[in-house]
Amino acid sequence: MYFYGMIPQDTVNQILQAAEISEVVGEFVNLKRRGANLIACCPFHNEKTPSFSVSPAKGIYKCFGCGKGGDSVRFIMDLEGFSYPDALKWLAKKYNIEVKEKEFTDTELAAQNERESLFIVSEFAENYFREILLNTEEGQSIGESYFRERGFSKPMLERFRLGYATDSRDDFARTALKAGFSAEVLDKAGLVSVKENGVLLDRFRGRVIFPIHNVAGKPIAFGARVLKTDARAPKYVNSPETDIYHKSHIVYGIYQAKNAIRQKENCFLVEGYTDVVSLHQAGIENVVASSGTSLTVEQIRLIGRFTDNITVLYDGDTAGIKASLRGIDLILEEGLNVKAVVFPEGDDPDSFIRKVGGEAFARYVEQSQKDFISFKTEISLADIGTDAVKKAELIESLVASITKVPNPVKRQLFYQEVARLLNIDEHILINEGNKLVAGQVHTARKNDGGRVSPPAPERNLEMEFLEKSDSRDEEALVKDLVLFGQVKIGESHVLADYIFGETEADILSDAVLRAIYKQYREFYTRGEAPPDRYFVSHPDSRIQETVINWESPKHELSKHWKKYEIFVPDYRDFLGEIITKTNFRIHLLRIKKEIQEIIEQLDTEDEDQEVILQEALRKKNMEKMEIAEFLGSVL
Ligand code: GTP
Ligand code: MN
Repeated sequence: MYFYGMIPQDTVNQILQAAEISEVVGEFVNLKRRGANLIACCPFHNEKTPSFSVSPAKGIYKCFGCGKGGDSVRFIMDLEGFSYPDALKWLAKKYNIEVKEKEFTDTELAAQNERESLFIVSEFAENYFREILLNTEEGQSIGESYFRERGFSKPMLERFRLGYATDSRDDFARTALKAGFSAEVLDKAGLVSVKENGVLLDRFRGRVIFPIHNVAGKPIAFGARVLKTDARAPKYVNSPETDIYHKSHIVYGIYQAKNAIRQKENCFLVEGYTDVVSLHQAGIENVVASSGTSLTVEQIRLIGRFTDNITVLYDGDTAGIKASLRGIDLILEEGLNVKAVVFPEGDDPDSFIRKVGGEAFARYVEQSQKDFISFKTEISLADIGTDAVKKAELIESLVASITKVPNPVKRQLFYQEVARLLNIDEHILINEGNKLVAGQVHTARKNDGGRVSPPAPERNLEMEFLEKSDSRDEEALVKDLVLFGQVKIGESHVLADYIFGETEADILSDAVLRAIYKQYREFYTRGEAPPDRYFVSHPDSRIQETVINWESPKHELSKHWKKYEIFVPDYRDFLGEIITKTNFRIHLLRIKKEIQEIIEQLDTEDEDQEVILQEALRKKNMEKMEIAEFLGSVL
């Protein structure tokens, strides 16, 4: 029996069956019928003419603009930023399907119940602090008037569920105990501290409360600000780490911002709670805060569920900026695009937007945002002057950042930009970058027993293209297996028989394709075929994405939709050709493997051997060309 997370496979199947794609998607976007499909403007990127298509027959959606695609579960994951099990649970709720989670062991059950109770008590606390703020004398005269002075409107208090904690030892603790919560759960949620004699003390006292929500909008922690600036008390008291709150995994405001982030295709990153609220109030809603900690990989990935673009907004004091440059490198490393904006001396986003208003704020950001290269250059150039050593340091730091960028085309462009900005030969920069990467490999090997896989050194783009076209043959083989594996090719044979009879998984060099191949074969060896939509609904997003692209409704669209008027024949009319092609493809992949083996031997053998190997290599390459040519002409 399989479990996705803690949900049994038959419940998962039940959910997948009920979750009709057009119904699920239709809940969020306005779908219009076009032939067999439905279309809409894509909810994942900004567009005016629809390139987002839903195929009820295939149970999938696909956007031809931004490339997102998947089944109902993936849609909820992408849109709400949920994990796979959470998306399943969301759908289960929509379709009234009871999710009996897997039989827990006692410890698992206890852990599950404990997390659940932390969510419940946090929600209780959020409501309690709100109640105090809005409906008590002390809350109104102190808390509400503080927010009013800061210019926070009522709708903002509502949207961010802001609250107030009275200035007393245990008002909250007593109320919570009376409501039935145990001292233990209050302690574990970080809402109280327990003294040695067992007496409970409220953690938050005489402060305004900023609840911190997870992506699903549930409160998981609190930040509490003092009202008066007082050197003796810390400005903020925050919840400690708990089983439901990991500071480094969440950004403040993500729940309130996620829709806007997706729509604007950009996320502003600020430092403070109040920056987030102020920007929202001025109509800028695609904003989150790292809340005083330095940015982490998990936080970047969280934002990355909604957009590839982050703009970091820095306060106007330069002290913090240099320290936070590490954050920029981290963003680059995660493959996201980053820009940076610095506000005028003495201003933070909150004070600046209150001074100039939303429109001027947006204009300022638009005009003064810099990509990381100009940004780094500018902040260092101030104290460089004509100092050659400092200039060399700057260049090294820029090159170091560029090596972090996973995309080779982008890297190339960044090298060009630095070359231009600092007037240095581009090849010298690339060379420096390669040396840096090689050095990292070296130290990584030394420190980590060689397990770290470093970014590849800068390579010829043409090479990469050639390798891509190689991998296309692999892809075509696995694609035919998945799409037509069960198509009959003789009296008693299907295509899968042929493919598995002639090949082994190691003929494929790509890990994802190999995984698909192996999983198909697991079914095959049991005398089964993968169930309908098995790969399209696969929890491994790389497998799912790959297969979705094969299943894409593109050619169905072509009949109805001018933009994609490309003639793609239905494969089934070309069965004979598929078999021939599969045959040649397998042959081709085998030869490629043999070539690879020869090349590996070339490294080590003596000179006589080398002549023989070279000759063998020449022959194999000829063979490869012939087959490739043939395949090309069939395609
Ligand atoms: P205002 O000063 O009221 O505008 O609040 P702010 O939220 O903008 O605070 P500030 O810019 O001073 O700090 C940025 C963030 O750092 C805050 O939102 C907090 O998350 C965090 N922070 C600031 N001061 C403290 C503190 O004393 N303790 C802790 N734990 N965090 C703090
Ligand atoms: Mn502030």
